[in-house]
Amino acid sequence: MSNPEKLIIFDTTLRDGEQSPGASMTKDEKIRIAKALEKMRVDVIEAGFPIASPGDFEAVQAVARTIKDSTICGLARALEADIDRAGEALADANSGRIHTFIATSPIHMEQKLKMSPDQVVEQAVWAVKRARNFTDDVEFSAEDAGRSEIDFLCRIFEAVIDAGATTINVPDTVGYAMPQQFGDTIGTLIERIPNSDKAIFSVHCHNDLGLAVSNSLSAVVNGARQVECTINGLGERAGNASLEEIVMAVRTRQDFFNCNTELDTSQIMTCSRLVSSITGFPVQPNKAIVGANAFAHESGIHQDGVLKSRETYEIMRAEDVGWAQNRMVMGKHSGRNAFRTRLEELDVVFDSEEELNDAFRRFKDLADKKHEIFDDDLRALVTDAGFSAENERMQLISLKVCSETGETPNAAVVLSVDGAEQNGSAIGGGPVDAAFKAIESIIQSESELQLYSVNAITSGTDAQGEVTVRLQKDGRIVNGQGADTDIVIASAKAYVNAFNKLLQEPPKKHPQKSQV
Ligand code: KIV
Ligand code: ZN
Repeated sequence: MSNPEKLIIFDTTLRDGEQSPGASMTKDEKIRIAKALEKMRVDVIEAGFPIASPGDFEAVQAVARTIKDSTICGLARALEADIDRAGEALADANSGRIHTFIATSPIHMEQKLKMSPDQVVEQAVWAVKRARNFTDDVEFSAEDAGRSEIDFLCRIFEAVIDAGATTINVPDTVGYAMPQQFGDTIGTLIERIPNSDKAIFSVHCHNDLGLAVSNSLSAVVNGARQVECTINGLGERAGNASLEEIVMAVRTRQDFFNCNTELDTSQIMTCSRLVSSITGFPVQPNKAIVGANAFAHESGIHQDGVLKSRETYEIMRAEDVGWAQNRMVMGKHSGRNAFRTRLEELDVVFDSEEELNDAFRRFKDLADKKHEIFDDDLRALVTDAGFSAENERMQLISLKVCSETGETPNAAVVLSVDGAEQNGSAIGGGPVDAAFKAIESIIQSESELQLYSVNAITSGTDAQGEVTVRLQKDGRIVNGQGADTDIVIASAKAYVNAFNKLLQEPPKKHPQKSQV
């Protein structure tokens, strides 16, 4: 199709994605993901909900100060304090957007807001005008639009466009819509609202019935020109529409869609791996685009066809989404320069010589234990360095674990706690259990272990294990990560990393559950 219109990709991994229980991210983690999204040329990055907590404010501010090429967005309820806080967090952005919202469905207005439709319209108009004092780029969302009345949506959207909203977002907050019906809704809104040409229409679909991508694409067919989505489909409950599926569907079916994105799709796998490793949410093997089997051709008949002509069974090329070979790049004789150069090729740039030296020392330690070092090993190595660098009050100094057939496993651990060494020991049901109990004997976190998972970073029995530990305490949930060729040590690192996050992160407000 000639001259396709632009489809704006609005990524909300750092905001809605972070709202999935257990996916909370630190400021540094958000910056790492935001840099990867910017490199992929995502148009808008929703970096957080600045009023939620001081940590969220700082994270949005830091992303706004770091990212130059994407628009940075902050979420705000239609309340003065929220909007002002978002405006403040975005003050230094090259291009900043305030995203304000209020619920519009009868059930939300009556039960949650306890406001009349007239009051909701008035509040929405007021909020958009307030946001316009900070930026010309203001998005308005009608929360639970998927269950709102079309006449009311027309009324409120017309009013907020008049008040200065430049993007109108139509969320299917509870994942209730059906593709054809949702597409019709978008078409009707654009047709019926007299000033609809003054704004971009956007959609934000949740995946409760597994239809988030279908609903979003149906909206695109009917005129939506922004899609809100997340990497790996992360998000509240069943998640949001998956960015990689939306972008690749539109790109692959250019014969069908009259719009396209400007994303560099070869960055998709890097973003997917990064988000998965930071949140500890693994990607299922059969997940479209980014699952390990997405481009694997198992059955004989498929393999035969692909060998004769790849188009027989492949509609996309693996390399177009960044499925490059995981190259064996280095070994124990590789030097510091080669190490730096390869990491630069992987887009890892060190802030200081000290950081580089520290990572190189870790690389040498790893190369002593593991014969071949792959790209993924290098990524884990620098990620691991990042984890322990971030103002961590606790550090794992050493761990000794004995595990023998017929004997009860026992562990002895040495931690540095605020700079002072402390020893602990314990027995356990297995070596990991003993190691965690030994750590607990020192830190006494009184937290609950919610998830423990181990992934092999590469293949082979000498592969590094990447461990995620999820801890919960007083309603707060954090993820810790650790990587090592010894999975018991990786587990201990992950436990200590999670505990450090519990110490750092104060509780956050949830944008859609609290009204004050
Ligand atoms: O799902 C939703 O309605 C939201 C809004 C805040 C846009 O996340
Ligand atoms: Zn949402």
